[in-house]
Amino acid sequence: MRDSILRALQEQGRVSGEQLGQRFHISRTAVWKHINELRRTGYEIDSSPRTGYSFVKSPDLVIPAEIALGLHTSIMGRRILYREEVASTQDEAGEVARKGAEEGVVVISERQTKGRGRKGRLWASPPREGVYFSAILRPNLRPTQIIQIPLIAGVAVCKAIRKVTPLEPRIKWPNDITVGGKKVAGILAEMSCDIDRVDHIVVGIGVNVNTQCSLLPEPTRGIATSLAERCGEYVSRVRLVQSLLAEFDALYTTFLVTGFATLREEWKALDSTVGSWVKVSDAEEEMKGKALDIDGEGFLLVRKENGDVKRIISGDVSLIGRDN
Ligand code: BTN
Repeated sequence: MRDSILRALQEQGRVSGEQLGQRFHISRTAVWKHINELRRTGYEIDSSPRTGYSFVKSPDLVIPAEIALGLHTSIMGRRILYREEVASTQDEAGEVARKGAEEGVVVISERQTKGRGRKGRLWASPPREGVYFSAILRPNLRPTQIIQIPLIAGVAVCKAIRKVTPLEPRIKWPNDITVGGKKVAGILAEMSCDIDRVDHIVVGIGVNVNTQCSLLPEPTRGIATSLAERCGEYVSRVRLVQSLLAEFDALYTTFLVTGFATLREEWKALDSTVGSWVKVSDAEEEMKGKALDIDGEGFLLVRKENGDVKRIISGDVSLIGRDN
């Protein structure tokens, strides 16, 4: 009910308590209670006895009513589960996926107390500063194709940031999103599969939006930046989530129809890895080499110092320079 009243206020700008009551079949007192509840969560709503309520300003909470406004996606965010605080949206999304939630369900939170990154690292998630969500996908893929999903998500994150801010983020393989060489967003894909087929994938996206990175714990502090720090002004988290879901939806839908080939080109256009000298540590070794390309499946090809070309399936990559 509260969400419906909020949406009506946002759409109409100004509306009387009586009109809202009639529309939602509740008393004017009940309307007034919902309005006060919205005010308590940070919405600025004016009221006058003559003209009724008018919407002034939103606190930029990532609540479904805000995100759904103007969101035209076919899959992503068809249902959005909002939590003020969670340990990790990955866990919540995993749980609803195991109970059979459909593809496109998104779990989003204002804060994570145990946000996690790749390889069990911490993903610092201070309240109401960043964007933290996990989307459930159920593509008909072989487990080896899974890497393509976070690669596509990386393209979506870059495109969304480019739409909502003047920044020009780039991707470091497999899916670190960087601005000026510092990390601004990351993607974590966790899958549940049978021996040869994927049951579901939970794709978690974390973006440092208005995050004060100097207050983040080490080692994150040294390597992270935020959109607001880079562009010098507050960035709307709601707009970013809307844009992220829309971009991810479009890319994922294309992927389901055409496969990875066309998206590989999009990924390469935003990538900062190929052509760089890199330090790679994977399950087998730590080595230096030159990143040559990503192959048709999305794996990174690196020419090692001894001339051998290695296909990196999973690992940490740092950029250590480029040829002039
Ligand atoms: C990485 O770069 O290491 C991946 C970071 C992924 C962070 C997001 S925030 C939303 C979702 N919930 C988590 O606990 N992690 C992902």
